[in-house]
Amino acid sequence: MEMKAEKSKILVIGVTGRLGFELAKASINASHPTFGLVRDSAFSDPHKSQKLHLLSHSGVTLLKGSLQDEESLIEAIKRVDVVICAVSSKQVPEQKLLIPAIKKAGCVKRFIPSEFGLDADKTRVSNMDNNFYSNKAEIRRIVEAEGIPYTLVCCNFFTSYLLPSLVQPGLKAPPRDKVSIFGDGTVKGVFMKENDVAAFTINTVDDPRTLNKVLYLRPPGNVCSMNELVEIWEGKISKKLEKNYVSEEELLMKIKATPYPDNMEMVFIYSAFVKGDQTYFDVELEGSQLYPHTKYTTISEFLETLV
Ligand SMILES: NC(=O)c1ccc[n+]([C@@H]2O[C@H](COP(=O)([O-])OP(=O)(O)OC[C@H]3O[C@@H](n4cnc5c(N)ncnc54)[C@H](OP(=O)(O)O)[C@@H]3O)[C@@H](O)[C@H]2O)c1
Repeated sequence: MEMKAEKSKILVIGVTGRLGFELAKASINASHPTFGLVRDSAFSDPHKSQKLHLLSHSGVTLLKGSLQDEESLIEAIKRVDVVICAVSSKQVPEQKLLIPAIKKAGCVKRFIPSEFGLDADKTRVSNMDNNFYSNKAEIRRIVEAEGIPYTLVCCNFFTSYLLPSLVQPGLKAPPRDKVSIFGDGTVKGVFMKENDVAAFTINTVDDPRTLNKVLYLRPPGNVCSMNELVEIWEGKISKKLEKNYVSEEELLMKIKATPYPDNMEMVFIYSAFVKGDQTYFDVELEGSQLYPHTKYTTISEFLETLV
């Protein structure tokens, strides 16, 4: 009889969140015994409780607890082999409470901290990002120092971030007349759909190739310069847009003149599409090549839904 490797048990922290919900669904879809750590307050929020209902209906075991409640945290971690944290960027430093709990529980074979963006050690906007990336880098250093087995997922931008406006700060939908292009428009960025990032993340948890690695997602259909983005969109709406090129200097001035956090969209645009922080370095192995059977929603397919 063929022996099947047992699927790791996974705890997702932040299942009511944007990415955490997708992670829990992807974990169940891949037949992992799946647990979600949920704060008490989430059950009384109508939108969150609906998400929780869906998850529990699909087989996710919901455990009450929070990062601030060490007893609940250790109890939850003891039930699993893998911990995936998907708290928001603001709550990234709170993971300092999670690391000692993982150590105490002593059973975690893989920890995936809340990263899911650009590589915090490779971005070049530390003078203007309000510690966005240094907070994530600090957690990396603690995890390394503690010798916790980890995987870091650098998926770059979510499609729900910036792409719905075709990278136009302040807009909610792609423009149909005029478009701003930042820098010279040739620098390439990466957009990945959240459910694809989640499925990829779940693929990595039992994979020895991804142990203690930083993984980058850059599937060919998800890498695009601003010029290319605009061209794809023009093709979809069968119309040429009037282009306004915003120079690096102009963008930096706008960032300076806009108070935090309203300027963060522009900081991320600067980082990705002017500095090239998502693509300026080569990667040994692009993450999507690890699982060639997995399909990723392309930028073009995503933009098609906005026509
Ligand atoms: N690449 C991109 O474009 C992009 C875009 C957005 C986010 N991200 C990254 O993706 C990750 C997840 O972000 P998100 O937007 O999905 O987050 P989110 O929607 O704000 O969800 C955060 C989740 O964390 C939970 N949580 C917060 N504090 C907690 C605590 N102390 N104890 C237990 N649970 C707690 C929240 O639970 P409650 O329901 O109880 O509040 C919620 O479920 C972050 O690392 C973020 O930087 C990347």
